[in-house]
Amino acid sequence: MKLVIIANRIPLTIRGTDPLIFVRSPGGLVSGIDAFIKKANISDWVWIGWVGSRVKKRDLEKIRSTLIQESNCIPIYIPEKLLDKFYNGFSNKTLWPLFHNMPDLATYKQDEWQSYQEVNKLFFRALIDNVEVDKDTYIWIHDYHLMLLPSMVREFYPDAKIGFFLHIPFPPPETFAQLPWKRETLEGLLGADVIGFHTYEYTTNFLRSLSRVLGIEHSMGELVYNSRIIKADTFPMGIDVDKFNVKDDEIEEQVLSIKQVLHYKKIIFSVDRLDYTKGIYNRLLAYEDLLKRREDFRNNVVLILNIVPSREGVEHYQRMKRQIEEKIAEINGYFGSVEWVPILYHYKSLPVNELIAHYRACDVILITPIKDGMNLVAKEFVASRQDLKGVLILSEFAGAAKELGEALIVNPNSIEELSKAIEAALDMPEDEQSFRLKAMQERLRRYDILRWGNDFISSVKEISSKREILKTK
Ligand code: G6P
Repeated sequence: MKLVIIANRIPLTIRGTDPLIFVRSPGGLVSGIDAFIKKANISDWVWIGWVGSRVKKRDLEKIRSTLIQESNCIPIYIPEKLLDKFYNGFSNKTLWPLFHNMPDLATYKQDEWQSYQEVNKLFFRALIDNVEVDKDTYIWIHDYHLMLLPSMVREFYPDAKIGFFLHIPFPPPETFAQLPWKRETLEGLLGADVIGFHTYEYTTNFLRSLSRVLGIEHSMGELVYNSRIIKADTFPMGIDVDKFNVKDDEIEEQVLSIKQVLHYKKIIFSVDRLDYTKGIYNRLLAYEDLLKRREDFRNNVVLILNIVPSREGVEHYQRMKRQIEEKIAEINGYFGSVEWVPILYHYKSLPVNELIAHYRACDVILITPIKDGMNLVAKEFVASRQDLKGVLILSEFAGAAKELGEALIVNPNSIEELSKAIEAALDMPEDEQSFRLKAMQERLRRYDILRWGNDFISSVKEISSKREILKTK
């Protein structure tokens, strides 16, 4: 089998061209697929995508040969005039808010839609120019940036095995219907054999949109379009449990050092990309409310707030950053003292070992998005707690909540509920913490990243062979 991954980003982001410097790309998509390729021991694979930052066309040849030789990645050059409208524009100002069911934040611009179409074509060209596609090739296209690509590939390779996986929510049909280019988007997706989603809710939303917009009905997620069988199904993405459950002295030293530096105060940890969907501001309001209500926590609790920079070119993200930073300053200014800073704020991405050390050092982790496709951080935290201690507070609107029912599940829109949940978590007896974590850890082992990827690929195999049978009849 040959696996071709096509996603907006390759797993490495370029930070400098002279000399070449790469860092790991952010987000769950990259960490999940990267882990799957490793765990499944796939030797014949290639990953096509953008290098994650603006590069000059003349530097691309050097970048390209390094990436192909050392990382199996084929970088795509997106011309400056398309990049802003495609990435900051249509992908992140139209699709991102709309698919997270925040239609008030979505904008609809014809020129951005055009750039989106053109960039999807660039990805298509990169595929046909660089990869030999045969009957054993699986072309796996990922996420909302590339929803037109499946049909482009299907037209060129009618018999190819094509899968598409959406890493973000699919909104309810009433919300999706607001997209002026809804037909084109759905038709684009229908080029795939299998269209996968993290939760049953998103799959159902997609199927209902198909019926509403294109009048296509399904039976158990299977439908016929252009005389082909297509399946929409649910594949909740898992993690590489061993990577987070690792025994490592260096990590243990870091855990100890975090606890020592903070004088063994209780630690609440929070880590997200900077995004208005993540509910970071409400989290701060809840922490503030808690400090007001429970004076005994003052001086005894620290919130480590790690925010990973993201989409800094989009105004809404810049505004969100300012609001968050102002609130942090207000809380620290009001409650803090020489001995105690209530919030330790970091605006950077953490290397994976440091991240695991934070998961293990904390007493409570706060994951409270307003809407989130899956949220692998919640799963990583659970897997990393070999000591079976620590409490996960998780939003009911994260896809992960469907599998992690033993977490303290909260509605992130209620500051009171969040604040009470933090209180309950800080006061939770250790045996209850262990009981909850154990159940969740067992579940994560059963449906891990390997199962996720293998299930998806088997489904593509099954549906494409049904197509062959249909053809010979
Ligand atoms: C989410 C999306 C990914 C995206 C990641 C980081 O996880 O589903 O497709 O790569 O966020 O966002 P960015 O815009 O930095 O690629």
